[in-house]
Amino acid sequence: MSSHDHVPVLLEETMAYLSPRENGLYIDATLGYAGHARRILEMTSPAGRLLGVDADRLAFDSARASLQAFAGRVSLVCSYFDRLDEIAREWGFVPVDGILFDLGVSSPQLDDPGRGFSFQASGPLDMRMGPDAGHTAADIVAGASEEELARIFHELGEERYSRRIARQIVAARARSPVTTTNELARVVAAAMPRHPAAGARVARQQIHPATRVFQALRIAVNDELGRLREALPRALSILRSQGRLVVITFHSLEDRIVKRFMQAEARGCICPPDIPRCACGREPRLRILTKKPLTPSIEEVKANPRSRSAKLRAAEAI
Ligand SMILES: C[S@@+](CC[C@H](N)C(=O)[O-])C[C@H]1O[C@@H](n2cnc3c(N)ncnc32)[C@H](O)[C@@H]1O
Repeated sequence: MSSHDHVPVLLEETMAYLSPRENGLYIDATLGYAGHARRILEMTSPAGRLLGVDADRLAFDSARASLQAFAGRVSLVCSYFDRLDEIAREWGFVPVDGILFDLGVSSPQLDDPGRGFSFQASGPLDMRMGPDAGHTAADIVAGASEEELARIFHELGEERYSRRIARQIVAARARSPVTTTNELARVVAAAMPRHPAAGARVARQQIHPATRVFQALRIAVNDELGRLREALPRALSILRSQGRLVVITFHSLEDRIVKRFMQAEARGCICPPDIPRCACGREPRLRILTKKPLTPSIEEVKANPRSRSAKLRAAEAI
């Protein structure tokens, strides 16, 4: 894969909020194919440094090759970002001027049938971003109870027909194991009602019936929400005063986690509203820079349809 297969999302907006300064220290917690990272390195020249983190070995190798021109200014770590503070400390990036999270998966990951992220081509139902994720999607499809599958599809995929799909999967796997992306996509498509409930039809016509199920399994396999909840406070703990935190999400549940985290840290006090005087003593630690999340322009979505669900939120450490 080349770095050109992934188009960085909301690139100008990200730079406007991250505001990379000459000779500053920055962390890209989701390095991917280094589109954002390259721009950060250009803007921080001549001596700015970047710590790039990604759980995916292929993305990591590709980024290392494409950032060779910046070799002396780049440190790369192949790891999940949950322990971002520890990684940053180890590599001398504390306190840091800015941290970027551009969540989810990259286009080359989605397009590689061997990774099992997409049903567009047949491949093993894997979906692990990093090797230490443990369970594959096939393990979940084979081993989770009907209730658990329905919960995953409903909560993580916001799939309206989660129970029907879970029931079909349990029936299908009793006949023979469901181990490939194509098999799963077929089972899901067969579980869909012929005449979707009113209101569901229009929205659903535009996406393949298996889209939400695949997204839900990917989020579950990689514990994406849990890792994000873990990483955000750790990221804040290593930002210098006035350092910037920029987060791009592609899923409403991710966006909610980011929004609530920023709001809570901007408020500080967590005492119940009926207490006359603050007892928790917590001070605000963030100033929110984006009242509402930024979304891509129509032009960007046209040029890069995968950007369509992106939301950017930014905040500054106090
Ligand atoms: C949308 S891509 C980032 C693209 C990148 N900004 C660019 O311009 O090329 C998201 C990347 O984050 C990585 N990733 C997602 N969740 C992660 C996590 N919890 N820890 C580390 N890397 C993660 C994925 O492997 C993927 O390469």
